[in-house]
Amino acid sequence: MQVPQIALLLVQLAVMASQALEMGYYAATCPDAEAIVRQTMERQHYNDPTLAPAIIRMLFHDCFVRGCDASVMIVPTRTRSSERVAIPNQTLRGFNAVDAIKRALESACPRTVSCADALALMARDAVALLGGNPYDVPLGRRDGLQSNPWEVDLPPPFARLDDALRAFAARGFSSEETVVLFGAHTVGGAHCSSFRSRLTNPDGIMDERLRCDMLDTCGAADLPLDKDPVPFLDPDTPFVVDNNYYAQLMSNKTLLQVDQEAATHHATAAHVAYYAASPDAFMQRFSEVMAKLSNVGVLEGDAGEVRKVCSKYNTD
Ligand code: HEM
Repeated sequence: MQVPQIALLLVQLAVMASQALEMGYYAATCPDAEAIVRQTMERQHYNDPTLAPAIIRMLFHDCFVRGCDASVMIVPTRTRSSERVAIPNQTLRGFNAVDAIKRALESACPRTVSCADALALMARDAVALLGGNPYDVPLGRRDGLQSNPWEVDLPPPFARLDDALRAFAARGFSSEETVVLFGAHTVGGAHCSSFRSRLTNPDGIMDERLRCDMLDTCGAADLPLDKDPVPFLDPDTPFVVDNNYYAQLMSNKTLLQVDQEAATHHATAAHVAYYAASPDAFMQRFSEVMAKLSNVGVLEGDAGEVRKVCSKYNTD
């Protein structure tokens, strides 16, 4: 078995076993933990509305690799690499916000609240700040002791949908749940590099007006990431969790190729049409499936550690 397969198997086993998270886990040891996260998220959100989408994406990137164990937060050192160097993680943002929240948690209750729990709460608060439905987050996750770039097997934006569906199924998500999670692309932005090839080599699917507009915005030539424009994924309401994204898929007005395929694929097209027509159902399911995402492959009990600083293991 290859190393990524073994890591995935461990995640699958942990998904099955992760029934021990609890509501009120910090009631005795850090009663204000949830309020501290919420207040800090609120403050940061009003300074920078692009943070909340970034945190939702960070949760996905963390939970998909080794489960929700904050492995995505580890900064590489001279001697030890980490998930942060893998290509899909090079455009993750929001690490400073995680650090700020962790500092606030550490000053209220040292060495108590894990970074994995902090991120799960931050993502829940991000959804609510963007107008999504509130949901409960049972707590008790522990932080991982491994973070390896070669284990990052997140689907790329040009993946075939079949491959992406397989990746989600391996973590316990049905096609319907995968379509609901794709709905996160109703907020935030994407660097042109993740869809420029659709502009320069037209696939005959992308709406021609959108293609021309994006070609104006992005240009045809590759740019370094820090110079690459970041258009909104849902330009109508980029900071609102709503079902707009599905209507955009159905009118071929979406940026990422893998998303576009969901509009016509036999396993997903009916779900896309349903959520395009059913805003309330989407809002409810989005929160339910985000809650499920927050529980993938968590470490519990004595496994792992509670990091003091989210970007570093407690001991090297
Ligand atoms: C096959 C699955 C997926 C692919 C290929 C994919 C790919 C991408 C790409 C390429 C971007 C643009 C990043 C950038 O250039 O800065 C992006 C943004 C984003 N993704 Fe996904 N994604 C997937 C699934 C998900 C899921 C499951 C979630 C959350 C539940 C999610 C949440 C987001 C959010 C919120 C953004 C905007 C981030 C920001 O504004 O910084 N994505 N995604």
